[in-house]
Amino acid sequence: MIPIFGVAAEYKKLRKELRKAALEVLDSGHYILGPQTGAFEAEFASAMQAKHAISLSSGTDALEVALKALGIGPGDEVVVPTFTFVATAAAVSSVGATPIFCDVDESNLNITVKQIEAVLTPKTKAVIPVHLYGAPANMSEIMNLAVQKNLYVIEDCAQAHLAQWQGKPVGAFGHIAAFSFYPSKNLGAFGDAGAVTTNDSNLANACLEIRNAGRGLSGPTYEYARIAGNSRMAEIQAALLRVKLKGLKERTEKRIAVAKYYDKKFSKLPLILPPIGDGQTQSVFHLYVIRSEKRDELANHLKAAGVSCGVYYPLPLHRQKCYQHLNLKPEAFPNAEKASQTVLALPMHPYLSKSEISQVAKAVISFFKG
Ligand SMILES: Cc1ncc(COP(=O)(O)O)c(C=O)c1O
Repeated sequence: MIPIFGVAAEYKKLRKELRKAALEVLDSGHYILGPQTGAFEAEFASAMQAKHAISLSSGTDALEVALKALGIGPGDEVVVPTFTFVATAAAVSSVGATPIFCDVDESNLNITVKQIEAVLTPKTKAVIPVHLYGAPANMSEIMNLAVQKNLYVIEDCAQAHLAQWQGKPVGAFGHIAAFSFYPSKNLGAFGDAGAVTTNDSNLANACLEIRNAGRGLSGPTYEYARIAGNSRMAEIQAALLRVKLKGLKERTEKRIAVAKYYDKKFSKLPLILPPIGDGQTQSVFHLYVIRSEKRDELANHLKAAGVSCGVYYPLPLHRQKCYQHLNLKPEAFPNAEKASQTVLALPMHPYLSKSEISQVAKAVISFFKG
């Protein structure tokens, strides 16, 4: 089977360097908040064009820490897309605030200002645009609205490392951005890991305290400025991520090249293809997701042809059991409803060989053309 993700292929390719980096950390005796963590944070901040990067234990934690750093909690509302991974909304619930779901745009399955405006109330404190599958949301419009309505913007960049909105990497627009380094992400660790980036030094300092038991940044070690948990990333992950970060740009270009190949092959098929961009506004294809009314038959056909595929996501969040107490009507989210029934992710990673992408393309084409 051709896998959707390239986790195993990437390890094979970088094996020697990764093992060396891991052993150096094991030998160093420094396992938490050591020199590798500091170096990774500096390098990641620079790659994302942010002043500060704070490494954390997961993308979910990154969202939660960002919300806490902004002072968002009980009584506050935060607008999130209903069509995303659950963590975007669960983080809001976890800090005691209420996620307010909004529908996504048909074109790129991201939220737009029109949809955000429709659900704003005096309690709305923030909005979390998700750059779904690696395609940027319209950050110019969202930031204009945020200024007008006095809202915080937390970018969910879990799927979008190095995606560009008008020439700048996503994450560089909102007040703070959350990244995931889950192993299959475009920048993947060897376990759970995540980070926030921000240009705001006060927010960065708040995140540093929140991730580390609430310990103040200055003053005695066992004195605490706030009540907080532990969201630190392991030193060994920082060392491994540094190895992978070096090649992220090149691997991103390979993803875009695979997407261009698929686009060309599929242009005449009855499919909705993902937005590709023009270099200035550019998806990084965490996933290459096509949309078809015959999604389930197509999925079966592909699997029979040795091509893995997957549905991200089969159930929008307004339909999840955990959010039934919000009493939401599916009719309010027609684009998300449709997307959940039509989306299908094809193999997408930088290590796909020419013959593999050709096999994927042939399998898709043969479904429609027999
Ligand atoms: C859009 C989105 N947000 C948040 C997360 C949460 O990241 P993690 O799995 O690292 O906690 C993910 C990861 O799956 C994601 O895809």
